[in-house]
Amino acid sequence: MAEKKNLFAAGFDKATLITGGSKGIGSGCARVFARAGARVVICDIDQETGRALAEELTATGPGECHFEPCDVRQPAQVERVIEQTLARFGRLDCLVNNAGQHPPHQPIDSFSIEDFKELLQLNLVSVFAACKYALPHLRKTRGSIVNLGSIVGAMGQWQATTYCASKGGVHGLTKALAIDEARHGVRVNAIMPGNILTQSRLDLEATMEYGEAFHDFVETWQWTGRSGTIEEAGNLCLFLASNAASFITSAEIPLTGGIELGQGPKVTVSEREVRPAADSG
Ligand SMILES: NC(=O)c1ccc[n+]([C@@H]2O[C@H](COP(=O)([O-])OP(=O)(O)OC[C@H]3O[C@@H](n4cnc5c(N)ncnc54)[C@H](O)[C@@H]3O)[C@@H](O)[C@H]2O)c1
Repeated sequence: MAEKKNLFAAGFDKATLITGGSKGIGSGCARVFARAGARVVICDIDQETGRALAEELTATGPGECHFEPCDVRQPAQVERVIEQTLARFGRLDCLVNNAGQHPPHQPIDSFSIEDFKELLQLNLVSVFAACKYALPHLRKTRGSIVNLGSIVGAMGQWQATTYCASKGGVHGLTKALAIDEARHGVRVNAIMPGNILTQSRLDLEATMEYGEAFHDFVETWQWTGRSGTIEEAGNLCLFLASNAASFITSAEIPLTGGIELGQGPKVTVSEREVRPAADSG
């Protein structure tokens, strides 16, 4: 019987920069890209984990992976890591803007203006900076950008105004940039994950009194009955970065297991009782 082959197994040798690649979805992307043959630079503030991952992926091959320290909140560091990637590979084919954070849930009253600005710097301004500095090089290779948005950037989420605003911004940036860069042959897309199971989420659940029950509860939100994996996120990013997606630009692809589909309870019965219909008079 013919050996089953992954669509991307080896042969994908694109020079790729992945921000926030030490852990979580970024590390899933690095794994999938390196397994497909890509030459990858991951950058992150977590140096120890990033260096260990890069070593492991290069040793496993067939691609290669290198780590560079970078705090994406600092545009000068973003510019530097792009230059380092160029110096290493001589070209840049793909930028995956992944570094980002979801702060703890709280109402708008509890977020300060400074909290909001800081989150925008991390989740949105960093993406703008990386695109800006990478594009002169991506235009030469007719490369592509994959941004990490979020399904809640489109849907909204309970007590997450700052996060949803930052991801909505990523979606708007993706669309506008896709329009501008089409004439240069550069594609710009976003993925919109729902719940992707990461070590960070498992660590958080471990600190909760009812962490296991919470974990099981979150798994029921998807029609698949589970969260996505970091490799599944990597697969979608790899597809969008590949020539197989050559006619796809400005897409915002949900990666959610169907969390946004169908109907279900939205408020508790007691909450509903305090929301009378507006007086029609
Ligand atoms: N996991 C999910 O369910 C989910 C859902 C929707 C969107 N996302 C988005 O996907 C991206 C990755 O999320 P994740 O869940 O894998 O997060 P994670 O916390 O597991 O990993 C984030 C990585 O980014 C790095 N990082 C954080 N701040 C940084 C900075 N200032 N400079 C450089 N690197 C930095 C961290 O060190 C870490 O390696 C984020 O943009 C997030 O908003 C995640």
